[in-house]
Amino acid sequence: MKALVKERAEAGLWLVDVPEPVPGPGEVLIRVLRTGICGTDLHIRKFDDWAQHTLKLPLIVGHEFSGEVVEVTPGVEDISVGDLVSGEGHLVCGKCRNCMAGRRHLCRNTVGLGVHRDGAFAEYVTLPASNVWVHRTPVDPDVAAVFDPFGNAVHTALSFPLVGEDVLISGAGPIGLMAAAVATHVGARNVVITDVSPERLDLAAKLGVSLALNVGQTSIADGMRRLGMREGFDVGLEMSGNPQAMRDMIASMTHGGRIAMLGLPAEEFAIDWATVVTSMITIKGVYGREMYETWYNMSVLLEKGLDLSPVITDRFSYHDFDAAFDTAASGRTGKVILDWSGGARPERARHEPTKAEAAATIDTSGGT
Ligand SMILES: NC(=O)c1ccc[n+]([C@@H]2O[C@H](COP(=O)([O-])OP(=O)(O)OC[C@H]3O[C@@H](n4cnc5c(N)ncnc54)[C@H](O)[C@@H]3O)[C@@H](O)[C@H]2O)c1
Ligand SMILES: [Zn+2]
Ligand SMILES: [Zn+2]
Repeated sequence: MKALVKERAEAGLWLVDVPEPVPGPGEVLIRVLRTGICGTDLHIRKFDDWAQHTLKLPLIVGHEFSGEVVEVTPGVEDISVGDLVSGEGHLVCGKCRNCMAGRRHLCRNTVGLGVHRDGAFAEYVTLPASNVWVHRTPVDPDVAAVFDPFGNAVHTALSFPLVGEDVLISGAGPIGLMAAAVATHVGARNVVITDVSPERLDLAAKLGVSLALNVGQTSIADGMRRLGMREGFDVGLEMSGNPQAMRDMIASMTHGGRIAMLGLPAEEFAIDWATVVTSMITIKGVYGREMYETWYNMSVLLEKGLDLSPVITDRFSYHDFDAAFDTAASGRTGKVILDWSGGARPERARHEPTKAEAAATIDTSGGT
C-alpha cells in the first residue's frame, strides 16, 4: 500500500510502498478515506527539535483520519465491516491509576498514533477496537476526518459552562475556529475570537461569532467596548500557544473568570500571576480528548446541527501531499484534508456502495 513515511532524519516526507498492516488481537483494519493535516505533522515534516527528539524512524505519520472498517478480529464487538469510523489517536496503557479509574485521557503512558507508532497517512491503518469511534449517524467523511482536532476544540470549549457567558478565544486556527462554532452553538452570549491573520479572521466571521478581532490592529479592550461589555470575559479558550495572547487573555477576564488552555507554547514564559490571584482566575490545561465523553459530545453536536463545513477549506489527493502540507503551513487556511479514497482494493471497488459510502452520500446536503 501507499503511505506517507518519515524515512530519513531530515526535512521532508516520502510517499512510498509499504506492507499492508495486519490487525493483531482486538484490533480492526481500516481503509483510510480522508486524513487531516495537523500542526504535529508539520513539525514532523520539518524535522524540528521536537521531532528529532521524539521520533523513531522510519514512521508512517498522521493521526487525524476517517475510514471504513474492512476487517475485525475475533472478539471485537459492536464494530462491523463497512462502518464509517474515526480514530482516537491516543493509545492508553489501561493499567495506570487514571486508566484503572476510567479517566483514560489522563493516562501518563499515552502512545501517539503517527508519532510513537505508525499512523494513518496510508491506505490502511490498524487500531485497537477501543480506539475506534463508529459514526452511528451519517457524517461527511471530511468532517469525520477532523474528529481529533474537533475533539480538542470540544474538550476545551466544554471545560466550563458557556450558556449566556462572554467567551474569548485566542487563535483562529482550525481548532480555535471549531471552538468558536461550538461556543456559539451551545448558547454563549458574546463569542470574541482573536488572531493576527486576516484570512482566518474572515473564516471566523463566517461562523457567526460576535467579533473577529485582529489583535495586530485593535485591542481586546476596544472589542469589549464595541460589544458594550463592561466587566470582562467569563470564559477564555487559549488556542494560539502565543505568550502575548495568554497575557492579553488574563488581563481581559472578569473576576472569577475561567481559562481553558489548549495552545501549546514553544517555550516557558512569564504571566502576570498577581492578576491571576487577585482576579481569582482558574486556569485549566487541556490535552487531547476525554475518552469517550468528548467523542459523544462531538457526534451529538453535529447531530443537532453544528456545521463545521466552513472550517474545512482545502482538499488535496494524497499524491499532492507536498502542496497540501505547504497550504497547511501557510497559516492562512482552515483545515486541510488529504483524500485517500482512490486507494480502494480493485475487488472492493466493483462492489455495491458500502455502509460507509452510503452514509457519506446521505450527508451531501451538509455542503462540505
Ligand atoms: N493540548 C492539545 O492537546 C493540543 C492538540 C492540538 C493542538 N494544540 C495546540 O493548540 C493550538 C491551536 O491549534 P491549531 O492547529 O488551531 O494551531 P494554529 O497554529 O493553526 O493556530 C494558531 C493561531 O494563533 C494565531 N495567533 C498567533 N499569535 C496570536 C495572538 N497574539 N493572539 C491571537 N492569535 C494569535 C496564529 O496566527 C494562528 O492562526 C496550537 O498551539 C497547537 O499546538 C494542542
Ligand atoms: Zn492533530
Ligand atoms: Zn494509563
